[in-house]
Amino acid sequence: MDSKKYDVIIVGELNVDLILNGIEGTPEVGKEVFSRDMNLTLGSSSAIFANNLSVLGAKVSFVGRVGNDSFGELVVSSLKKSGVDISNLIETPDNYTGITVAMNYGEDRAMVTYPGAMSDLKVIDITDDKLSKAKHLHVSSIFLQEGLLPDIHILFQRAKSLGMTTSLDPQWDPTEKWDVDLGRLLPYVDLFLPNESELMAMTYTQSIEAGIQKIRKISNNIIVKQGSKGVSLYNQEETIKTSAFLNNDVVDAIGAGDSFNSGFINAFINGKTLSKCSEEGAITGAINTTASGGTAAFESKEKVKKIAETKFNYKLEI
Ligand SMILES: Nc1ncnc2c1ncn2[C@@H]1O[C@H](COP(=O)(O)OP(=O)(O)OP(=O)(O)O)[C@@H](O)[C@H]1O
Ligand SMILES: [Mg+2]
Repeated sequence: MDSKKYDVIIVGELNVDLILNGIEGTPEVGKEVFSRDMNLTLGSSSAIFANNLSVLGAKVSFVGRVGNDSFGELVVSSLKKSGVDISNLIETPDNYTGITVAMNYGEDRAMVTYPGAMSDLKVIDITDDKLSKAKHLHVSSIFLQEGLLPDIHILFQRAKSLGMTTSLDPQWDPTEKWDVDLGRLLPYVDLFLPNESELMAMTYTQSIEAGIQKIRKISNNIIVKQGSKGVSLYNQEETIKTSAFLNNDVVDAIGAGDSFNSGFINAFINGKTLSKCSEEGAITGAINTTASGGTAAFESKEKVKKIAETKFNYKLEI
């Protein structure tokens, strides 16, 4: 019998998104404009990942910090609705839940983020007791979690010494300082999942090839997400290139990277080959683009399988 309670424990940022649409003009200091449509919802790329991984069938627990406020309640109830275990969430009494205000203008958006409680999460909050309940550790958005960043390598070292497999999606650094020591982090990361721009920025290089060359020897698997160009996986032995599943009818690509991660990691924890993991990541990334936002296409396992079959002629075995 399997002794672990969860397949994946996710350490990530949590915030609500206040999305304003139909804005009549550009906001200016000292003036006021109307927005004709709004939505207040669970934000954060880690939460999209958690939701979609859970829908694909994995048992998922989330570690993160929220404030003792109504936005915190919204975050907690939304995660719970996704089937994600919330018993490892921590309430911060002296900070507010984070929020991103997104002002949409057609394809483009202006965003302002107040990180709030998400910056208070520290590596010591994530005890061995919490970690050891899961088989796999996934950490996302390290640059948004300023309390976690300086010690992030320690978290990965501990997970490895507990016999877990690990993955990391760095996501973008809003400060663009990219202040992380890859030399002491990447040896403990089984799956490193940046997109092209993040890889180049983190390695201070101008091309994927140069970035890979710089970190390949200290890495296990580097999986570079390249939007509609697909994905490339590099390790010491091989390079595996996987094409994207063509979608001529993209609604938007918000959350495609997180959906890719969910498909890849779900396959990985089920013992599938790296090439199959890339393929299942590519199909879940493509499925993401068939509906608005990061979770709308991930209502149920059955629905995901049906989209794979009808839109992409792919039999997803989950
Ligand atoms: N337009 C698209 N059509 C088909 N597949 C796509 C498309 N966009 C993304 N994908 C799939 O999803 C994967 C991840 O997307 P992307 O490269 O945009 O990640 P990302 O930049 O990390 O995204 P995010 O902004 O969500 O963090 C791609 O490697 C690809 O397989
Ligand atoms: Mg991404």
